[in-house]
Amino acid sequence: PGTAHLRADGELTVGGVPLTELARRYGTPLHVVDEEDVRRRCRAFLRAFPDQEVAYAGKAFLCRGMARWIAEEGLSLDVCSAGELAVARAAGFPAERILMHGNAKTPGDLGAALSYGVGRIVVDSFGEITRLAATVASPRPRLLVRVTPGVDGHTHAAVTTGTDGQKFGFSLSSGAAAEAVRRVLGQRGLDLAGLHCHLGSQITDLDAFDRAARRMVALLAAVRDEHGVTLPQLDLGGGFGIAYRAGEPDLDPGPLAERMLGAARAACAEHRLPVPRITIEPGRAIVARAGVTVYRVVSVKRDAAGGPLVAVDGGMSDNPRPSLYGARYSVRLIGRRAAGGDRVVTVVGRHCEAGDVLVRDATLPADVRPGDLLAMPCTGAYHHSMASNYNLVGRPPVVAVRAGAARPLVRRETEEDLLRRDVG
Ligand code: LLP
Repeated sequence: PGTAHLRADGELTVGGVPLTELARRYGTPLHVVDEEDVRRRCRAFLRAFPDQEVAYAGKAFLCRGMARWIAEEGLSLDVCSAGELAVARAAGFPAERILMHGNAKTPGDLGAALSYGVGRIVVDSFGEITRLAATVASPRPRLLVRVTPGVDGHTHAAVTTGTDGQKFGFSLSSGAAAEAVRRVLGQRGLDLAGLHCHLGSQITDLDAFDRAARRMVALLAAVRDEHGVTLPQLDLGGGFGIAYRAGEPDLDPGPLAERMLGAARAACAEHRLPVPRITIEPGRAIVARAGVTVYRVVSVKRDAAGGPLVAVDGGMSDNPRPSLYGARYSVRLIGRRAAGGDRVVTVVGRHCEAGDVLVRDATLPADVRPGDLLAMPCTGAYHHSMASNYNLVGRPPVVAVRAGAARPLVRRETEEDLLRRDVG
């Protein structure tokens, strides 16, 4: 899986550029992102959801370059902090195409959203509705009410958000969602554009999206029946799962759209409602496969049981996903031909924790040695955006490739960068 191509000479290329050349120019660890792959996936979503709204979830990966690609491709953008909004603004992202999320938006987040005039704010608590109602904004802020529809997407608990018993949204089953709608409609200074739900992340079960669409349309119908208001928008969130390794399930936009839009249309027909404009919020599905991380092997040794350990120059600071979610990846040796057969090794990071393991069951050439380069595919989403400076290791750069040319998007974090914030 992923965007890299194996050339006949054994070189792995992305966007027409050999990864070894990028490693030479920019050093390792290195995040590479394939611009054309990102743009292709944006178009695939727009084609599958014609006349609807596709909002890229910036939390997966955001910098000015990425925001420009998303804007140029005609997508909207979901941001969840003043920081993400600042990057979107700096890229000139059109305000009306921005949605602001967050279960605990600070005054700074809301202030930034109102001053930039973002297209929609997705409200997540009664207190937030009260706070927004108390601000005088012109034009009136357009809101979506975030609903917890009680649909389980059968994904990792840490990224499950469609069920009761987690921190996001107003529960449908308890009546909190209907009450939130009542309160927003009761405020003359607020404009209710519609409803929102998001089931979670890395979901491959189409039934879940079908069920959520039907429940959300039923709530739209209940709103019409109670208030005589037909809400124009229904945001069904993101969370579309991808294959990180060969053989894993991968949701294509086509079948996803068929099920999701099909369920929404059928439910609307049943409730005699006009079909609202549907919004979806893919993050991972747009950018995960466009990313490749290149590491350099620093040491090779055996653990006490004789298991081979291959340690690289990155780790949980550039990819916390294995330690947080048990996420599984593959790696591949690049830059030289291997002699002899393969063996199963554990690829570990450089950080001062035993849990800093990148791949538990990697198949690598038996002669893997210090100095070798390893490429890890499918690292475009929630890698750079979740990177840390743990152990005061600087975050890697992000380099974009397209049509045989490379261009840095984010430079490597230096020791000066790290010291700049240290003001004591
Ligand atoms: N919309 C909302 C409201 C969200 O909270 C999210 C992700 C998305 C859309 C996009 O979800 P996606 O299509 O990317 O799955 N750090 C975790 C993933 C956290 C997702 C948080 N919310 C990971 O690395 O797996």
